[in-house]
Amino acid sequence: MSTQSTISKKAAIADPDSGAKRKRMTVPDFMARKGGEPMVCLTSYTAHVAHICDQVCDLLLVGDSLGMVIHGMPNTLGVTLEHMIMHGQAVVRGADKALVVVDMPFGSFEESPEVAFRNASRVVKETGCHAVKLEGGTEMAPTIQYLSRRGIPVMAHIGLMPQSMNTAGGFKAVRDEAHYDAVVADARAVEQAGAFSVVVEGVAAPLADRITQSISIPTIGIGASAQCDGQILVFEDMVGLMPRVPTFVKRYGTMEEMMKDSVARYADEVRARNFPASEHTYKPK
Ligand code: KIV
Repeated sequence: MSTQSTISKKAAIADPDSGAKRKRMTVPDFMARKGGEPMVCLTSYTAHVAHICDQVCDLLLVGDSLGMVIHGMPNTLGVTLEHMIMHGQAVVRGADKALVVVDMPFGSFEESPEVAFRNASRVVKETGCHAVKLEGGTEMAPTIQYLSRRGIPVMAHIGLMPQSMNTAGGFKAVRDEAHYDAVVADARAVEQAGAFSVVVEGVAAPLADRITQSISIPTIGIGASAQCDGQILVFEDMVGLMPRVPTFVKRYGTMEEMMKDSVARYADEVRARNFPASEHTYKPK
């Protein structure tokens, strides 16, 4: 990467497109948006994508989906704290308006509230992010309380929880009415534990609506319903960079086609010795 394209805080602030008048979103600002204009959230894993999304997003999530999207893993279970810290640092460098939340990876928070605090405080210290996210409902309430009472804002994540894929038998959306009450109980438990917001993933729309009406913290939906207080998608899914398109994803771009086309044209021009052209070469002094 050239020095020119390196994202720095200074460059982001100097950029007239960076929405200089917008103030940085804080956790209390985010909470105050409950029931208001829907919050716009996207995942980001790199500084440049973060810089692009920061122009319009209220929240950027460094999701552990980066294991699958960036590192080619089959699921999120292999993601480490080091992966999250490295990508978290990049995203914090690229964003100066949105609230930046970093996911706690599988194995880094479940053992005890103390272990969760040790790892979450490392994430906050080493990345400069504003909050962490962790998967789990009622069973994670004591951990959410422990972290939030000690200065680490927590976004909870209920419904379809990708880190529980082995116990659930895959990525299973909650569509059966018999399971609705348990998910509502999870939502209430994380709210009461002090979570500032909750991601509601892969649940039938009426359940997402019921959760949104039952709790006082913002619900951020993915595969949920338009009545949630905000929406989140994986950036690469949304811009059309991933080959598989789950039902809940709308592709707003065709990045894969654009990239394939650029690579093919580059290859043709290299093979034909048409690239580099004279304007791309240094002239002797
Ligand atoms: O890891 C992730 O990207 C997520 C979002 C899809 C909510 O948890």
